[in-house]
Amino acid sequence: MLMTELIAKKRDGGTLTEEEIHFLISGYTRGDIPDYQMSAMLMAMYFRGLDRDETVAMTMAMMHSGDTVDLSRISGVKADKHSTGGVGDKTSLVLCPMMAACGVKMAKMSGRGLGHTGGTIDKLESIPGFSCALTPERFFENVERVGFAIASQTGDIDPADKKIYALRDVTGTVAVRGLIVSSIMSKKLAAGADIIVLDVKYGSGGFMKTPEDARALAREMVDVGNAAGRRCAALITDMDEPLGYAVGNALEVREAIDTLKGAGPADLRELCLALGSSILLLSGLAADEAAARASLQRSIDDGSALEKLREFIRAQGGDAAVTDDESRLPTAPVQFPVISNCNGYVNHIQAEQVGLVSLHLGGGRATKDSVIDPAVGLVLKKKVGDAVRAGEPLAVIHAATETAAKQAAAELSACFSITDKAPEKPPFILDTLR
Ligand code: URA
Repeated sequence: MLMTELIAKKRDGGTLTEEEIHFLISGYTRGDIPDYQMSAMLMAMYFRGLDRDETVAMTMAMMHSGDTVDLSRISGVKADKHSTGGVGDKTSLVLCPMMAACGVKMAKMSGRGLGHTGGTIDKLESIPGFSCALTPERFFENVERVGFAIASQTGDIDPADKKIYALRDVTGTVAVRGLIVSSIMSKKLAAGADIIVLDVKYGSGGFMKTPEDARALAREMVDVGNAAGRRCAALITDMDEPLGYAVGNALEVREAIDTLKGAGPADLRELCLALGSSILLLSGLAADEAAARASLQRSIDDGSALEKLREFIRAQGGDAAVTDDESRLPTAPVQFPVISNCNGYVNHIQAEQVGLVSLHLGGGRATKDSVIDPAVGLVLKKKVGDAVRAGEPLAVIHAATETAAKQAAAELSACFSITDKAPEKPPFILDTLR
């Protein structure tokens, strides 16, 4: 098989066979196909797109390009969740304990966030003593005993995606649906869960900017996951403002703990109930949506989900007393309010820009070697649709210094749009696809 012929075939509108895609992915992963030929292929894919069969073949070839996790030694149903990423997204910290309390196991491997805010691991590592560096044995043991574990990725999972994503990033070929689907699903399939739920976000802070694009991406991810023999569902959710109120690592852990105590923001709670219901329905552990929601709500009301969080923190070396005494979490020395200078209603909050404010405060990673400050970030006091009066706080900045706080306050203030009329708020969860 010749790479030049495959490039020409795709360029001219042809459809690549499973064998050709296998040749492409294995050859590029091994280093036999050079970057310049793969770049040309990616650009041909950008203009021609990938059909469903090509996307499935890409996904399977990428999934098998490295190690795959075998969860068969763990008893019971194993589920995983993926979010296309958003600002203030601490869903895993709430959902995993709820699922464990309902009898579903979650063996999550996570990455560190590059960008606006930290990733799940960064958030968790703001808990004193907590570590995500688990040996594979300890990881499996904790999932079996506690019900869930979250570890930093070990082994060589999906090396094809690492190489191809890096190349897409510098060749203007990220935004191809088939490539996004195969990139995300190959990693999820390699992680071994029976059930995969996807949170596909749209809006100013989401990976997809419109509901239509989010829906098309979600549909294809579910279909590809099902074609690979897993049970999948996808929620399409609004990321036109940050999720919850807190943005910043320790601040988000506090908000997750509050949510597990039955308080916390309505959107975060609703998202966890909806994702959790999908998992319980797909696993056969609930007969219908109402029963699923009732089980999940019970895990909060009776404290069993919070107790699972404590067990999990302890099992990974952390100070579980943070769940009862949040002052044990890192706290920023400066807290500075962002004040509204007018009356009206919050019409819009630019989520992506809010993420950048947290990044500038030191809460995210601009390069992969940046060191995160776990204490900094911001807590919104108003969300879209809320009435506000001049002089009221819109948010509170948590910063390392006064200077950083004042700079962040100016940036955050510019993220709010306030109008005379209350805006029409779209439903937070637009749809669930199964
Ligand atoms: N996230 C991924 O993991 N891959 C993509 O292609 C896009 C977003």
